[in-house]
Amino acid sequence: MKLKTTLLIFSFVLTHTLLSQNQSQLAPTPPMGFMTWNYFGLDIHENDIKTLADAMVETGLRDLGYNYIFIDDGWQGGRDNKNNIIADPAKFPSGMKSLVDYVHTKGMKIGIYSDAAPLTCGGYTASLNFEEQDAKTFAAWGFDYLKYDYCGAPADWQTAISRYERMAKALQNSGRDIAFGICEWGDRSPWLWARKAGGHLWRTTADVRDKWKSHAPAGSAPHELHGYGAGILDILEINAGLDKYAGPNGWNDPDMLVVGLYGKKGAPSTGLGGTGCTDTEYQSQMSLWCLMAAPLMITCDVRNMNEATKRILTNKDIIAIDQDPLGIQAERKLKTDLLQIFVKPLSNGDVALGILNTSDQEQTIEVNPETLGIFNKRKAKDLWSGQTMNTGKRIKVKMAAHETKVFRLSE
Ligand code: GLA
Repeated sequence: MKLKTTLLIFSFVLTHTLLSQNQSQLAPTPPMGFMTWNYFGLDIHENDIKTLADAMVETGLRDLGYNYIFIDDGWQGGRDNKNNIIADPAKFPSGMKSLVDYVHTKGMKIGIYSDAAPLTCGGYTASLNFEEQDAKTFAAWGFDYLKYDYCGAPADWQTAISRYERMAKALQNSGRDIAFGICEWGDRSPWLWARKAGGHLWRTTADVRDKWKSHAPAGSAPHELHGYGAGILDILEINAGLDKYAGPNGWNDPDMLVVGLYGKKGAPSTGLGGTGCTDTEYQSQMSLWCLMAAPLMITCDVRNMNEATKRILTNKDIIAIDQDPLGIQAERKLKTDLLQIFVKPLSNGDVALGILNTSDQEQTIEVNPETLGIFNKRKAKDLWSGQTMNTGKRIKVKMAAHETKVFRLSE
């Protein structure tokens, strides 16, 4: 009898440990996929999710690694008489389980959204004090990821940490592997505590808008950006300095890709001056996000992409920089008023070198890799043109305003 009990306890501890280990390893490389927020806002419908999943497969995006569909805010329909959270039946008439099954049959994973307060940012039912119950519901529906927001919750760090820990534990006890995205916009330096609290990624800034940069004063802290509407450069400015916190299963999240939005549709991305970017700027966002090992969440309408958008989102060589298994976020080695330089070591010994022309003019930039601590790399492949050159002592490039070039340097 005693032996049986000991065995039972042992097997419980073992299963629990294995589950926790699995849970902590749900994002070995930065998650990639489509997130509904920037384009659809709160106006989401199951048909959109289905046709988006279809498009992710047909365009080849899924096979390039973009294998999640993330349903953001606006899906909720309150609670039933047993306090189970339910989906809005008008938006999701077939129910969440059937939608999740559909996405899974497409060979994709699916994520959902809630908030650590009574209501979400959009004013919908959220999970405070229902953590266990909601985590079980998300697991029963078959979700693989939860983005957990922080609107309507107290500002202090301690409450934030404990509310995120509570949901992380609830997910760990839900019986399903569910990755956990922490979204408190960098206001409480989540890079210092989010991994330990059970997060696989943490937003580092205010919401991205579809623009190159805001008028926020230089050196603004994450929370100061909210009112200005953060552009690509504002977000870069904060996220680039956080490289030492990122790594497998714990990523800095500089928010979604605005690539291909062109200032159209969703109020979230067009708000606060989000009037759109040029293709050069979109290509820069993709380059910089990949150098920073960021989660890659597409938000443009993948059912109707133009050629430029397809080219930017489907560049295998650039995606490989983001998804490199070493999981090192590029270090920003140089920042002047005119340019920035990034270096990201890769798993096979190659090095990714990123050069960003922040000026509003075309300029020719020369870089000597040795001054950046990169030695014995004789070849440089320009990952956007596909051309490889011998580096000699320096790499000399003509760059358009706001352009980023990424080179893969090898022996
Ligand atoms: C916050 C988040 C966004 C989005 C909205 C939904 O603003 O930062 O990414 O999830 O809430 O209401």
